[in-house]
Amino acid sequence: MAGRTLSLLKRSDHRNSGYRSSAFKRAAAVGAVALATVSLQPVAAHAAPVPIVGGAPAAQSEFPFMVSLSMGCGGALYKKDVVLTAAHCVNGSGNTTGITATAGVADLDGPGAIKVRSTKVLQAPGYDGHGKDWALIKLSRSIDLPTLKIATNTRYNRGTFTIAGWGDTRENAGTGSTRLLKAKVPFVSDRRCKQRYGGRFVAGQEMCAGVPRGGVDTCQGDSGGPMFRKDDSGAWLQVGIVSWGYGCGRPLVPGVYTEVSTFASAISRAAATL
Ligand code: ARG
Repeated sequence: MAGRTLSLLKRSDHRNSGYRSSAFKRAAAVGAVALATVSLQPVAAHAAPVPIVGGAPAAQSEFPFMVSLSMGCGGALYKKDVVLTAAHCVNGSGNTTGITATAGVADLDGPGAIKVRSTKVLQAPGYDGHGKDWALIKLSRSIDLPTLKIATNTRYNRGTFTIAGWGDTRENAGTGSTRLLKAKVPFVSDRRCKQRYGGRFVAGQEMCAGVPRGGVDTCQGDSGGPMFRKDDSGAWLQVGIVSWGYGCGRPLVPGVYTEVSTFASAISRAAATL
């Protein structure tokens, strides 16, 4: 049941790829207890399965910093050769050529995809499945596409955010989308998010966003991707990393995102060591 209602689960976990992290298992075990009283409703009882959940196709080059990662996660180009993703998408830190990053396309099957292998992974120090859900992936070569700036203070942690990814278009779909989908979700206060998630929500390290009536959300396979908005100069700025949620797009159940501003200096320092 926890695997279906899920908390920390990347798309490849559905395929039983063996890439499952111990942190996920812990989170699933905790979730199974915490959520045992909440029944899993059939998808049809929620918002209609519209294309991310409730999204629309992104245009080619609309979000040039978006990266699809081969373990079934999203990411964003933080530097031309470094991808920022979620800690729960990777298996610890170290050298690995086992991850392929695909960039430069909205349609993963379309022409012009840029595919680059990883050389290293750096998972957030002290990551234990509870907050700190960020990781960096060093690429074997630079990709000549725009990077996405990250928020370095809390100033933009409000308002309406854009989410984008190749993840599931409805809860439990398990397939993802070959087209990059986008949607907009308003900020949800820590207080409200705590009401919904209790102690599993780590205020200060996580922030929430979602549409109260449901039907618009990130979902499995979107993890690691950015949540972003325009700054005052009109440039895209990353404020969140897709992390977890109870189901996808359920009414009054926001998505939970890593609060990037909290980790901005740690991310910058870590990237300098790669
Ligand atoms: N943990 C998921 C992943 O690995 C993301 C879940 C986001 N869920 C949500 N309801 N916003 O892809």
